[in-house]
Amino acid sequence: MNYGLIHEPSKTNTECLVFGLFSDTDLPESIDKEHQELIKKLVIKASEPGDSVWQADALGFGFFIIQLGKKEDFSTTVLRKRMNDIMDALIKQRINSATLFLPQLPKKSADWQLEQMILQANNHIYQLLDFKKKVVKAHLLETLNFYLPGASEKTLKQAKALAEGIELTRHLANMPANICTPAYLGEQAMELANQYDSVSCEVLGPDEMRQIGMNTILAVSQGSDEPPRFIDIQYNGGGDSAPIVLVGKGITFDSGGLSIKPANAMDEMKYDMCGAASVLGTIKACALLNLPVNIVGLIASAENMSGGSAVKCGDIIHSMSGQTIEIINTDAEGRLVMADALTYAERFKALFVLDIATLTGAVIVALGTVATGYMTQDEELAKLLEQSAEESQDRVWRLPLDDAYQEAIDSPLADMINAGFDRSAGSVTAACFLSRFTEKYRWAHLDIAGTAWVSGKKRNATGRPVPLLIQLIRHVANSH
Ligand code: BES
Ligand code: MN
Ligand code: ZN
Repeated sequence: MNYGLIHEPSKTNTECLVFGLFSDTDLPESIDKEHQELIKKLVIKASEPGDSVWQADALGFGFFIIQLGKKEDFSTTVLRKRMNDIMDALIKQRINSATLFLPQLPKKSADWQLEQMILQANNHIYQLLDFKKKVVKAHLLETLNFYLPGASEKTLKQAKALAEGIELTRHLANMPANICTPAYLGEQAMELANQYDSVSCEVLGPDEMRQIGMNTILAVSQGSDEPPRFIDIQYNGGGDSAPIVLVGKGITFDSGGLSIKPANAMDEMKYDMCGAASVLGTIKACALLNLPVNIVGLIASAENMSGGSAVKCGDIIHSMSGQTIEIINTDAEGRLVMADALTYAERFKALFVLDIATLTGAVIVALGTVATGYMTQDEELAKLLEQSAEESQDRVWRLPLDDAYQEAIDSPLADMINAGFDRSAGSVTAACFLSRFTEKYRWAHLDIAGTAWVSGKKRNATGRPVPLLIQLIRHVANSH
């Protein structure tokens, strides 16, 4: 899809003009005289917020008018809703090219708004067509122009880069587990390193992992015929400054292992590598944006199956950190693979480490699909996350990580068990487990189980939390 900015309202040659109009103001000057009368007539029919009118002339040139409500009530939420309506209408009318005339939000810059609109439009039209014999295109859109005085070409370019990163994340996440295996993720990471000079990558297989003692990842993968991978991918844009390390959970399918999951919606466990996908999408966006920072992406990738050599409940594993873990539930595999990845992360002397994982069903019970749950004991990092979430509209909500929760995972036999004995505070005890491997650096944990994909018949990856991560990385880049 092509996105463009137009600076003079009359200079647009798209097939359709889209106007968002307030209910309580005169028509904006951006509507030329020629069309003023027509639009005055159309707008009468769109009397309530969200109402819209579609009109095509004899040559097939179209107008789409949508009512935005009162000027003083125009907010980011209203913009988001109306953008959705607009995209639905453009798709339904089989439009090729359109120019959007929407007013600017109060208290937000034109650049901010342009980025939001492009990301939303791009998210709306995304579809995975790789597996359709008969390709039924859900839309015919090719060009979307924006009239938004004050917005810059630079922002336009940046928004496109960000959209590409998000698209990669969604694409990898949506891939079925028979294609998207740990080896496939390794190849995709290598591909990024081939595409961008600023990116380098190393992929470890089971033998190399054994040599450095990554026994928790190996334990999770041992019940599967798919060999595990450990991916170390680096974006180098910040000279010799300390890197931000992003650690992604890359379980390409989570059957639960011997603690097997119920059949219902088990197919969605192909999404258990969304953390890994978000790391790769973020690295791609950083490379496209040429951000002056260093990022290390670490991905622990395995398939969690229940084959004859699968890890058993009660088995005790020596993690890479030296701490021992009694596996009481093989379905709590995410924290196991993350443990060794977080230990590996120590070597980078990072500015801070963020881990991104579809870690617990409990976070969906707590926060639903609106906010990503995060935990940290680092107040400064919490502030940075909150601010970046606000700015990117990729929401987060903090959950506690008090020491008092730690005893839930103490074990009489080993240094810890891998899950609490009951379901209480499931997301917090999972984070407590991870915290035992992160003592040597500043760290925050993002549990994206509720936000990384939309569940149900229309299941689809969302690309979250790439917008949040990029915004956070931009903050660090600006502070250099
Ligand atoms: N990948 C799941 C978490 C998950 C479940 C994400 C449903 C999205 C939707 C994770 O590996 C898991 O199975 N967690 C268990 C932990 C429990 C056994 C302590 C869970 O949440 O039930
Ligand atoms: Mn699991
Ligand atoms: Zn899992």
